[in-house]
Amino acid sequence: MLIDILTIFPEMFCAPFGGGLVRRARDKGLITIEIHNIRDFALDAHRKVDDYPFGGGPGMVLKPEPIARALRSLKRGREEPKRVIFLTPQGELFTQSMANRLSLEKHLVFICGHYKGIDERIREKYVTDEISIGDYVLSGGELAAMVVIDAVVRLMPGVLNDSQSALDDSFQDGLLDCPWYTRPRVFEGMEVPEILFSGDHRKIEEWRRAKSLERTRRRRPDLISGDDL
Ligand code: ADE
Repeated sequence: MLIDILTIFPEMFCAPFGGGLVRRARDKGLITIEIHNIRDFALDAHRKVDDYPFGGGPGMVLKPEPIARALRSLKRGREEPKRVIFLTPQGELFTQSMANRLSLEKHLVFICGHYKGIDERIREKYVTDEISIGDYVLSGGELAAMVVIDAVVRLMPGVLNDSQSALDDSFQDGLLDCPWYTRPRVFEGMEVPEILFSGDHRKIEEWRRAKSLERTRRRRPDLISGDDL
């Protein structure tokens, strides 16, 4: 998968993508991430990327030309990108099923906005998807892009060592994850549930499913359909 990111703060991506899961996926050749500084596509000598909003009001708006030029530069020698994603609190709320769908794409482009956002005409002409990572306002789209990319990349085959572990995740089957335990068997007086030592894999699976349901019903009843209740 090719991931292009358009940003005015390219350095923000160094640490999160320089280690951990995304680094591993890059090292294995499963993804290529290219970070493009929108400022490099500015038209003037001062490399200006933002301007005052027409009609007045506080804040600045990212100008359309540098973003359009950056997008056009991506297409050279490549297939047209399928998805051009703008990160915004006005977008569709990001979910695990969206992450699953995006993990099947060959080419994703992320546009990170700042200030009041980007000129509306970029959204009209170039953006195919608008994604929000939650009902709160971040200072820019960079952190949101990192969240989406992390959730998508870990679903790609070959990224996680134990592919089963992604399937077991909270939300992957529409439920929150069950509790997990490791050594020691007794920790500060608290014992690991007996069933986990039974060796009966069917019973353990049933127990995990029951715990998942119980936890989901208590914490996120909105996730449970009538059939599960
Ligand atoms: N940019 C600013 N806030 C955001 C949010 N909640 N989700 C996605 N992009 C954003």
